[in-house]
This record gives sequence, C-alpha cells and structure tokens, in this order.
Amino acid sequence: MKTYNILFFIALSLISCQPKNDGTGDETYSEKYRPQFHFTPAKNWTNDPNGLVYYEGEYHLFYQYNPYGDTWGHMSWGHAVSKDMLHWEHLPVAIEEYLDPETNDSTMIFSGTAAVDKNNTSGLCEGKDCLVAIYTSHVHKDNQGLRQHQSLAYSNDKGRTWKRYDKNPILDIERKDFRDPKVFWYEPQQKWVMALVVPDLFKVQLYQSKNLLQWSLMSEFGKVGDTTRIWECPDLYELPVDNEQGKSKWVISLSGGHPAGSNFVGMQYFVGEFDGTTFSSTQTKTKYVDHGKDFYAGIVFNNVKDRTVMLGWANNWTYGNRTPTAPWRGGFSLPRQLSLKKKDDEYFLIQRAIEESKNIRGEEIKDLEKFTGGSLEIELEWTYGDGPILELFSNQDEKTTIEMRGNSVFVNRIESGNIDFHSDFAGSDFATVDTTNQKLSLHIFVDQSLIEVFVNDGAATITSQIFPKGENVMHIPMKENIKNLKAWELKSIWK
Ligand code: FRU
Repeated sequence: MKTYNILFFIALSLISCQPKNDGTGDETYSEKYRPQFHFTPAKNWTNDPNGLVYYEGEYHLFYQYNPYGDTWGHMSWGHAVSKDMLHWEHLPVAIEEYLDPETNDSTMIFSGTAAVDKNNTSGLCEGKDCLVAIYTSHVHKDNQGLRQHQSLAYSNDKGRTWKRYDKNPILDIERKDFRDPKVFWYEPQQKWVMALVVPDLFKVQLYQSKNLLQWSLMSEFGKVGDTTRIWECPDLYELPVDNEQGKSKWVISLSGGHPAGSNFVGMQYFVGEFDGTTFSSTQTKTKYVDHGKDFYAGIVFNNVKDRTVMLGWANNWTYGNRTPTAPWRGGFSLPRQLSLKKKDDEYFLIQRAIEESKNIRGEEIKDLEKFTGGSLEIELEWTYGDGPILELFSNQDEKTTIEMRGNSVFVNRIESGNIDFHSDFAGSDFATVDTTNQKLSLHIFVDQSLIEVFVNDGAATITSQIFPKGENVMHIPMKENIKNLKAWELKSIWK
C-alpha cells in the first residue's frame, strides 16, 4: 500500500512538473532549439499572432495554429493567456476550422483581431462587456482558397469558449483574397475602425462600424512603399514621438511575404495622420519594421493603456515550414514597446523590449566567454570600426557573428550550424544605422534558436533564427572596442 502511495505521489508530481499545454503533455520545453523565454506552442505549427488583447487582468495571445500537424494547415486560433506578456499559460484551441454551413466547404480561421466590446455595442454580450473576435473566414476546397470574408465570434467567459455569430460573414466583397482585419475602438468618434488588406492590389481598406456587425468602407491606402510581395496583416495605431513632447503620429504597419522564396524582410510601415476616416502619409522612403528575416505579421495589443506593444511571428514563409524543430514549429518575438523618433523631418519607428523583460533576468554573467547557456541578454557599446563584435555558438565548424561593417550592423548566420534544411536560409541580415556619434549600442537577446538585436536604443532591430549544432561558446574577438558590457542569464518562462 505504502509503495503504491509513493508511486502515485511520484506520478502526480511528474505530471504537475509538465508545462500546461493543449497537447499530450509529452512536451518538456527543454527540447533542442526550444526558446526558453519566447512563446512557442507546446506542439505543432504556428504562424501569425492573432487577437492580441488585454482584458480583465489577462493578456490574450491567439495565434494561427494547426492542431493536427507541424506544417501549415487546418488553420485555427490557438490560445494562451498571461499576466505580464512573458509567462504564458496554454489554453485549449479557441476557434476551430469548420464547415461552411451553406456549401459544406471547409472554412479556416485566418488572422484577425480580438477586441473588448466595452458597451455591448454588438448586443452579443451577456454582461456589460465581452470579448469579440473578428477573423478572416477562409473558405477552401482541398487547400485551394475559394473565398475570403470576415466573420465574428464572441466570448462571454473571458475567452475560454467562443460562439460563432449566426449571421456570418459580417463583411464580404466577394473576393478570393481579402483578409486580416484589425479592429479597434476610435474614441474621438465613438466608433469601431477596421483595417484590412486586399493583398494582391496592395491596398489597405478602412471600414467603420457602430456595432461591430455592419461595416461601411471609409477609405483606402496603398500601392506605395514595397509592393514586391502581396500585403498581409495590416495594423493602424497611434504612437508618441519620443523627442517631441506631447506629439503623436499614426502608423500603418503591414507584412509582405508571398510569393515566398529567396530572402526577404517581412514588415514595412508608414507614418502619417489618421482623422477617423482617412490615413494619409507623405513618406517617400520605404521603411522596414525589422531588418532580420524572422519578423512577420506583427500586430499590436488592443485595450492596453499608456503604451503600444507589438508581437511578431519570428519566422519567414520562405523556409518556415522546414525549420528543424520538434514537436513544435514557429513562435513569437519578445513583446516590443513601440514609439517614434523624429530625425531630419522624418519619423522612424523605435522598438524596445517591454520593461517587464527585466523580471526574467537571472544571475549576472561575469565572464561571457565562460558562459555556455543558450538563453541570455547582453548589453554593450561598440566604438565604431569594422569587425566582429560577438561570435555566438562558436566552435571549429560553426558560429553566428554579430558584426559591424561600414555603417551597418550584421547578424551573420552563414556558418550558424544547421542551415541545410532550406537553400535560402543561410545569409546575413543587416540594419544600416546612424553613425554620427561614433557609438553603437546593442541590446541582444539570445534564446537557443532565436536572436533579437535592438540597435541604438531601438532605432533598428534584427530578428534572426539560428540552429547551431553545438553549445553556446561565446567569443569576443575585439574586446578593446567594447564598453559597458553587461550580460544576464535569462530564466525560463516555462518552469
Ligand atoms: C500571414 C498570413 C495571413 C493569413 C494567415 C494564414 O502570415 O498569410 O495573411 O491570414 O497567414 O495562416
């Protein structure tokens, strides 16, 4: 009897040590390449973050999810909640692929928004407010897209269960490609605004509504900037200007990743004005959100006061279905607080890791070259000059180098280890930076297979995946050019 009790106890404590997940419970979050402080689903495929929203003390992360496999397909909305945007608790799949009631064609749940319907404008809330999700209903036969329209689902229990609205779709312009609605409450005119794309026409359309159910077209913005790949996942938000007290501007950011193939940088942004009807911008240069290959489909949280925070899919459509991870594939960047900075009459995006990320700092690392862990944060200043700044996961056969050449910072993954899973993976990502004050500051997060570099206090970012074969041996070849080096081991968010 006693032995049975002990065995039962051991079994119970083993189960409670497992991270909570929506899968079988076999995932340990210590698998090779598993990020320790970035969100990844316990198992299976994910792409875009969806429906980022704060509601009743919880941040919600919904995400494009395949419940049945580790490549793209059966798109549904996975779900997790957090109190700090860093430590996530997995919840069951929120909205699943279903059969179109009229045609019996399968309908996937593509990207979209969640919003808090504060005054029950939709009439769908049981209490004073509820969560509403507006997503693209992607109707297809055997994975061939037939039609995309926008549909609504609502939840009266803090996002735990969802009902699809019985009069879906709520917006249909009878097109094959028409998607990725971002909906937010526009306070000055007491109405809802929706931004979504007509991908192949490189257009963002803006709609308005009083009740989230009936929508009317207000204006269009597009055919500007980078139009080499179809547009996806637009967002529209207001940001403060760091160096102009009290001033703010509006931003449209969006992604372009299809057709996939060869190397590309995924997201661009436009700075301008929004008057409740039209977004206008006089910007002439194309501006990219992140300069690495692995930042895509970023959107900002709804209903967060006093700051704007973006999460992006840390992957790339070119090779995303083949990255060598198991049993999951795909994950998200750190949450980034956004603002703008004015320079020579132009406004540029500033991105910084959210303040809360300091809470996952563990021990300070005194001697980086002796530290062999794979999850860490590094701050340093580099005096200008060409050369390798840091070599990570460095041994005879492989290394990932962060280096400066001319006025650009590079993350070079040409020899980073496992690069053969796709011929377009190996390469260098770079950001061109302002070199006028002869100093470069780097804020680097390394997380097993994901590197995020914030350059010059967020003036540029580079997000790149790597799949080293060996452990993280660090090499600092030109120490004399480095000042104020500080590093911390980062704690796992899953333990
Ligand atoms: C962007 C995207 C979206 C679409 C979703 C489908 O990565 O292609 O346009 O809604 O992924 O999974």
